Amino acid sequence: MIDLKGKIALVTGAGAGIGRAIAETFARLGARVVAAEIDPARAGDLRAALDAIGGGHSVVVADVRDGAQVRVLLAGVEKQCGRLDILVNNVGDFLGIAKPFDQCTDEDFDNLYAVNLRHIFLVTREAIPLMKKTGPGGSIISVSTIEAFRGIPNGTVYSAFKAGITGFTRSLALELGPHGLRVNAIAPETTETAQVSPEKWILPQYKDLVSKWIPVGRFGEPADCAGAAVFLASELSAWVSGTTIHVDGGALAAGGWYRTRDGRWTNVPVVEDSGLPF
Ligand SMILES: NC(=O)c1ccc[n+]([C@@H]2O[C@H](COP(=O)([O-])OP(=O)(O)OC[C@H]3O[C@@H](n4cnc5c(N)ncnc54)[C@H](O)[C@@H]3O)[C@@H](O)[C@H]2O)c1
Repeated sequence: MIDLKGKIALVTGAGAGIGRAIAETFARLGARVVAAEIDPARAGDLRAALDAIGGGHSVVVADVRDGAQVRVLLAGVEKQCGRLDILVNNVGDFLGIAKPFDQCTDEDFDNLYAVNLRHIFLVTREAIPLMKKTGPGGSIISVSTIEAFRGIPNGTVYSAFKAGITGFTRSLALELGPHGLRVNAIAPETTETAQVSPEKWILPQYKDLVSKWIPVGRFGEPADCAGAAVFLASELSAWVSGTTIHVDGGALAAGGWYRTRDGRWTNVPVVEDSGLPF
């Protein structure tokens, strides 16, 4: 049931982190991957990795915030592959913007919108005709964040656009369900990637506490999200649509509860000088 042979999968922002893990995992499971990546060097690395796996994959250097480039990208998928089964809207970035909402500029609003929500509209709108033509069984997956489901101080605008993915996912699932296409999202907690590095943010004296901060006992790895993406892309999730999988090691459920070094639960923060620089 998790054999993706014969499927064409488009993954955006696949040159690093979560997108790269998804692209490589799909390729290993037999899908033919078309990857879009803005950074030429990362695109080159990914191309080499996908070539090593084999299967006729392609990596396109493209900025998915740009409607014209998105149209060229999807036209290329149709021309080269003739079908599209899986779309992963993975691009997203908090852009290092960590400041009170009332200090955010118009430019911050526009930049965060473009990279966290607007490109999902652009890519998905262009992909739908080809996915409908491909026929029932298609899957659209967008990468949100756990911060769409809880607050994040000084990240209000990022969080708001990511929360927009939840509404997009639910409503589009209704529109596309009758066509046999499913629409879902993945919401990761802190995951070690090019953009987010808990490895760098945690001071050496606290490394032993990492296992206490998240119920499952560690930060995320890109492969954790790849696993959720495989589930949502495959027949295993044939009756799952309009929802979001929290890939968070139980952090949302913990909701502010942590363990101390000796294993007791506490809702009082135990560390002041490490963590996300917000
Ligand atoms: N890493 C985390 O802790 C975390 C947590 C919650 C949500 N997320 C979400 O997961 C997704 C992936 O995050 P990541 O940490 O792997 O990111 P990353 O920055 O490590 O990788 C993203 C890739 O997308 C590429 N990219 C950026 N803008 C692009 C554009 N306009 N067009 C094409 N490619 C573009 C980048 O060059 C990079 O290679 C994002 O949507 C992010 O918001 C990540």
